[in-house]
Amino acid sequence: MIRLEHVSHTFATRTQDVRAIHDVSLDIEAGSFVSVVGPSGCGKSTLLSLISGLMPVQTGSVSINGARVEGVRRDAAMMLQSDALLPWRTVRQNVGLALEIRRERKGMADRVDAIIERVGLAEFADARPAELSGGMRKRVQLAASLVYSPSIILMDEPFSALDAFTRASMQQLLLDLSRSSEATVLFVTHDLDEAVALSDKVAVFTKRPGTVKSVHTIDLPRDRAVTDVQSLPGFAEARRRLWEELRGELGTDDEARRQVQHVG
Ligand SMILES: Nc1ncnc2c1ncn2[C@@H]1O[C@H](COP(=O)(O)OP(=O)(O)OP(=O)(O)O)[C@@H](O)[C@H]1O
Ligand SMILES: [Mg+2]
Repeated sequence: MIRLEHVSHTFATRTQDVRAIHDVSLDIEAGSFVSVVGPSGCGKSTLLSLISGLMPVQTGSVSINGARVEGVRRDAAMMLQSDALLPWRTVRQNVGLALEIRRERKGMADRVDAIIERVGLAEFADARPAELSGGMRKRVQLAASLVYSPSIILMDEPFSALDAFTRASMQQLLLDLSRSSEATVLFVTHDLDEAVALSDKVAVFTKRPGTVKSVHTIDLPRDRAVTDVQSLPGFAEARRRLWEELRGELGTDDEARRQVQHVG
């Protein structure tokens, strides 16, 4: 499991010190799917960077299965908010990168092609990132993150650039692959529908400096189809609870609606 204990983080910039997160404690059970929602700038991306080991922990502790995170982990996939594809590599080469790094060459070509097919980009396997749309690049990133069956998946608003149909199918893909590999997922989103549809638990963060305001258990069947789950009675109720918690952190109602999608 991923355990955060009293984690705080301050960025020192030329002009000021910005405290991004403050005293965050959160347990993410092994194999569970946890989402984080919160206002823009409350430290969600910072949190993922700390867990992935991309940024050193300043205060408090971050541990995975009892071991403190020190440096970048091989078993964790991090899908950044920004585009992280290598421009000179083709789709196939970008997706295969994680396997090359791990020297998992056995069956590599088949695994790469299978996941490229799953994200609907078989026709573009030999294209370079510059030749793809924004949503297609996101799908390549998703494939590249999941191809080696990571045990920890950290995702920063991975589906925000996608149209509704593609988003639903990518959500289902993530859900299915994470379940079948029993991966632990920490997922950042601004979309409350998405948070409810995918998660076992949702953590609501306060505005900066981000702290955990509340953690909500989503009481829906684990074996789910993301598009069907929305019509279950528990869905609207869970979304309403999240929205009630979040709106107080977002300033005016207009501002709140701009920052959060699908508030109903
Ligand atoms: N590398 C950095 N240097 C300086 N300040 C930073 C850096 N990264 C983040 N910050 C600051 O830390 C705070 C939290 O940023 P972060 O990117 O974690 O927020 P976020 O919750 O992911 O926001 P969003 O929802 O807009 O993506 C912000 O005030 C930001 O300006
Ligand atoms: Mg962010």
